[in-house]
Amino acid sequence: MVENPESSKTEVAAIDPEGENYGLLAARAAGLLAAGELVALPTETVYGLAADALNQEAVAQVFAVKERPTFDPLIVHVRHEAQLREVAEVPPEVEEALVLLLSEFWPGPLTFLLPKKPIIPDLVTAGLPTVAVRAPSHPVMRRVLKELGRPIAAPSANRFGRISPTSAPHVLEELGGRLPLILDAGACSHGLESTIIQLEPGPKTKPLARILRAGPVTPEDLKRFCKVELPRKRSGSGEAALAPGQLASHYAPRTPLRLVETPEEFQPEPGKRYGLLSYKGDPKAGLLDKTDWALVSELSPTVGKLAEAAVRFFFVLRQLDAAGLDEIIAEPIVEKGLGVAMMDRLRRASLNH
Ligand code: TXA
Ligand code: MG
Repeated sequence: MVENPESSKTEVAAIDPEGENYGLLAARAAGLLAAGELVALPTETVYGLAADALNQEAVAQVFAVKERPTFDPLIVHVRHEAQLREVAEVPPEVEEALVLLLSEFWPGPLTFLLPKKPIIPDLVTAGLPTVAVRAPSHPVMRRVLKELGRPIAAPSANRFGRISPTSAPHVLEELGGRLPLILDAGACSHGLESTIIQLEPGPKTKPLARILRAGPVTPEDLKRFCKVELPRKRSGSGEAALAPGQLASHYAPRTPLRLVETPEEFQPEPGKRYGLLSYKGDPKAGLLDKTDWALVSELSPTVGKLAEAAVRFFFVLRQLDAAGLDEIIAEPIVEKGLGVAMMDRLRRASLNH
């Protein structure tokens, strides 16, 4: 891990929902948020950099701390449907589909894009008429939401464009010294950011869920309840930021990363240090014997389980990034279930270079 000299200004407090200090620490985090400060909090997806969503100055701090351009809007976290309705309008034509999806997937890693209510500062939504809302399932985040009694704006707790943090040490590495407190509840159980959807009335009254960002709630999960439009595949660097929330290049390690769709595409250059991001370390994927790899990191060693790969995904990217490589070569992942979300992240990570 890269030592951050500033990180000593940030306290990392271990928190355990079964532990004695649970209520006290959650109340302390909520107190800081109520006072306009920022706190990094665990969610089931990735760690978030939290601020009181109704406090414009606190939200402005989030952009400053992350070095995030203010045209990139934040997700608002709520406890339940009633709080969603305080921050967003639910158009009558999507009401039924929304309630159905909420009962299936909330609390959990599904974010809805809905028309915003005026209570949400424009800075949160980057001036857009819509707000992204989700109810996280992580007990620590839920407890802080309850103590605060207000919605929480929280992007992933990384510097802009970088790899999302799935543990407290990753947050410290990214933002150490820039905030007073990180609540450390261990590794995140999903490991990939929430699925973002926009609901629309679909053909023949069947609602349509347009996936804006692939995530832990997969297209297959959603197809049980509505029609699904898949996220656009991102390839080729001509596609810059088309609209807020659609930034093409993202989730990038500092080391150049190349997604190699077929083994023939990779012609190693002599003298270069290459690292391989492999799905399960299978020689049949065709890359293992192509060069003398400086490091091979597997997402789901030997077994090849998508859920395990998702949980380890950002951790493995960080591990490769820290290895002093000239280039990271990534094997493709089957584009089914959670594989859709991971391939989306790999395509975006490889656009930077
Ligand atoms: O799992 C998650 O969603 C995590 C945890 C912390 O909850 N949060 C997260 O936030 O990933 P962030 O800010 O890193 O990513 C939010 C994405 C961005 O790509 C942003 O542009 C998009 O959501 N977004 C937010 N509000 C939007 C809006 N009104 N319209 C379009 N895109 C929006
Ligand atoms: Mg992010």
